Amino acid sequence: MLRTKFESVFAKSPERFFFAPGRINLIGEHTDYNGGHVFPCSITLGTYAVASFNNSNKCSLYSMNFDSLGVREVSLDDLDYKKEDNWTNYVKGMIQTLEKSGYKIDKGMDILFYGEIPNGAGLSSSASIELVTGVLLKNMFNFDVDTIDLIKTGKAVENNYIGVNSGIMDQFAIGMGKKDCAILLDCNTLEYSYAPVKLDDYNIIIMNTNKRRELADSKYNERRAECEEALAILQKELKINALGELDAETFEKYKYLIKDEVILKRAKHAVYENIRTVKATEELNKGNLKAFGELINQSHISLKNDYEVTGKELDTLAETAWKQEGILGARMTGAGFGGCAIAIVKKDSTDKFIENVSNTYLNEIGYKADFYIANIGDGAKEVI
Ligand code: GLA
Repeated sequence: MLRTKFESVFAKSPERFFFAPGRINLIGEHTDYNGGHVFPCSITLGTYAVASFNNSNKCSLYSMNFDSLGVREVSLDDLDYKKEDNWTNYVKGMIQTLEKSGYKIDKGMDILFYGEIPNGAGLSSSASIELVTGVLLKNMFNFDVDTIDLIKTGKAVENNYIGVNSGIMDQFAIGMGKKDCAILLDCNTLEYSYAPVKLDDYNIIIMNTNKRRELADSKYNERRAECEEALAILQKELKINALGELDAETFEKYKYLIKDEVILKRAKHAVYENIRTVKATEELNKGNLKAFGELINQSHISLKNDYEVTGKELDTLAETAWKQEGILGARMTGAGFGGCAIAIVKKDSTDKFIENVSNTYLNEIGYKADFYIANIGDGAKEVI
């Protein structure tokens, strides 16, 4: 399908094919920029890019998801961000940022993109485009660049080029993902380990609120600022660089320093969510699925009450999920404010689960939610 489409758009054959997944985060939300732990995995849904050199100094970019925009021409001499350049800004940002790090990109290409991740659903479609572009550039130009550098480049594009102050979780999960494993990542040190996701007779179900969330105009940056304020207050008494360094005992002892109730709630989430994440990984590794599910539920409650990033749509999905037969745990995943939640549900209860949650959501919210079974796949790579 991609080959045929490429041939019809560019009137020649593609040379190489690349793929980058989307991601879900099992637990550890809004902890990455607080120097804490996250526990995400890459999913088999993602973004494909198909490319061929074109003997010019322009890239001709086409996305099957934005058919009506047609082929967009990007000159390699003019890579600055332009709002009207829409989705191609992610590609331009990767080229420009890699060039600034010394990688020479001096040959134009025709590239066709196809994304399977619903865009704006909080499954990291933007980090997926960044990383698929990263592996494409690495392989087409034979760059000697590590995956971790492509991950950091993706984050730099998001932060400095697109203007979203996000952490490293999404790019890391998408770059380093491994089939059937989640990644426990310490965002302070970037040390990581893989944990096999052995859920026996349970499925991970992605539940999409179909409420779009735009990271840039959401309250994401506001939450970051609130956490920075909490950290600055605690640093008057404590030698710490991040909220993620605090254990429960130290936080409880010094939290009196934070007088503002809202700032205190934000810090409490950051500290305890980090603790829950490490604990949840241990429980999963030991096969204690019930305890793992319980921590997932607590994560949602904290994101609802203390971090206040869920909203009616995500709460309806998670709270309805908790009442169903065969449920192990459910929570929002990603930044929040819309987007997706995940639920871990017994395989033989899955159909009934989807039917019930779907009906309640439609009744209470007034439009449909979508449901997909998540499969955990590999990170960004060239595909044959
Ligand atoms: C978004 C950001 C991530 C992370 C999550 C919340 O997905 O891109 O860096 O902060 O939100 O955990």
